[in-house]
Amino acid sequence: MSKEHLVIFDTTLRDGEQSPGASMTREEKLRIARQLERMRVDVIEAGFAAASNGDFDSIRSIAEAIRESTVCSLARANENDIRRAGEAIRPAAQGRIHTFIATSPIHMEKKLRMTPDQVVEQAVKAIGWAREYTDDVEFSAEDAGRSEVDFLCRIFEQVIKAGAKTINVPDTVGYNLPEQFGSLIRTLIERVPGADKVVWSVHCHNDLGLAVANSLAAVRMGARQVECTINGLGERAGNASLEEVVMAVRTRADIFPVETHIDATQIVPASRLVSQVTGYPVQPNKAIVGANAFAHESGIHQDGVLKHRETYEIMRAEDVGWGANKLVLGKLSGRNAFRARLQELGIEVASEEQLNHAFARFKELADKKHEIFDEDLHALMSDEAVTPADEYYKLLASRVHSETGEVPLAALTLSVGGAEVKVESSGSGPVDAAFKAIEQVAKSGSELLLYSVNAITTGTDAQGEVTVRLSHGERVVNGQGADTDIIIASAKAYINALNRLHSNAVRLDPQGETV
Ligand code: KIV
Ligand code: ZN
Repeated sequence: MSKEHLVIFDTTLRDGEQSPGASMTREEKLRIARQLERMRVDVIEAGFAAASNGDFDSIRSIAEAIRESTVCSLARANENDIRRAGEAIRPAAQGRIHTFIATSPIHMEKKLRMTPDQVVEQAVKAIGWAREYTDDVEFSAEDAGRSEVDFLCRIFEQVIKAGAKTINVPDTVGYNLPEQFGSLIRTLIERVPGADKVVWSVHCHNDLGLAVANSLAAVRMGARQVECTINGLGERAGNASLEEVVMAVRTRADIFPVETHIDATQIVPASRLVSQVTGYPVQPNKAIVGANAFAHESGIHQDGVLKHRETYEIMRAEDVGWGANKLVLGKLSGRNAFRARLQELGIEVASEEQLNHAFARFKELADKKHEIFDEDLHALMSDEAVTPADEYYKLLASRVHSETGEVPLAALTLSVGGAEVKVESSGSGPVDAAFKAIEQVAKSGSELLLYSVNAITTGTDAQGEVTVRLSHGERVVNGQGADTDIIIASAKAYINALNRLHSNAVRLDPQGETV
């Protein structure tokens, strides 16, 4: 039986970035976009161009760099947002504008303060503005999961007439149940005039843990695009996870009449990259990409798998990219091998000077840790991508004392706006002492929301990767630091978070504002 194509629309760089503290730099977004392209994602939602100049520049750089996947920008249904999106995607080989407006009674009345007629009129105008830039226009009815079906039919009919090519049905607040959501999709496809001329898409949030189940139910009822994110990153409880949707469709090919173009062996590398860049660790028991997803603890299971793999395994670990983390480089590797591997990983090096600097740091790391993996290179290059302008605070040196029965002590030398400052503090442990020392200087008054340490690779010589999440007033930022010494990694992560707070970059939240 020939299968229909299921479009995989990845929104890690847009909805994923709306997770608290998950904002990414242009360079980090480019790296993720390149990995998504390598994975053969059909559409990359690269951001929300009107959010800030930084978001606009990131989308534009992605549009310039990516040739195989369609590059998309989100835009509210207003002229300014749409023109910003149109300009941002202009260099793309294939560019899409994704415009949206809320359609549920509660959103129209309380958030937009618009009548249903005004909402339809605005949506139709939005499609017209978007079509000045591209024919590939997607329309979303925000909070469709709590909207009236008759109204959805009405607005979808009008935007299809106006030229929208993809109609997206978001369960914005993750309220729907699979049968209900599936039947909503079937009803819309049956009732909306022109339904056969567009691709039906779904975008499900995970508030009840049903985002993937709802997306799959919709696919069975005719949806041919799923919007999803790597590791299920996204607002609140997140979005449908790309890896789960893709592997469900592939593993249950007997049930689904569709197939994706995804190269599944790129899934685990993508998951690691996104986790590293955003500081959102992957829970060990997460399907497909969790560390335990293919581990068999119980003796009965181990025995079964050894006798015949399919007794307890429905997928093969290597098919989703486990074991793909290559031992890439070592102490004796030269500058050319280093440069070549960075290129293969899609990591941009701005200048020869940056390459020399990064290579020197790579050599230092290789002295401490003999085997260097792709993940080590990503961590090292994330550090390198921090420009002096982003580094108001910098760790220059550290001395930490920790001994049984003694109070732990940290003595740090920091650069603060270019001036050298020495500071000391005690604490309940060496990390606490280091954070207190930094805070004595920064006096940020921020609250520590999260401190987590992960080993980047295996072995006791692995680099520890630390994430620190700080909140200050309305703002939440994540900082990362990696080092073979976890006290240094922790201090770097704290300082990285402080630098992000210091940068004061403010972005518009697409769904928090009116049109
Ligand atoms: O969840 C949502 O409704 C969205 C839309 C902007 C598509 O993210
Ligand atoms: Zn969303």
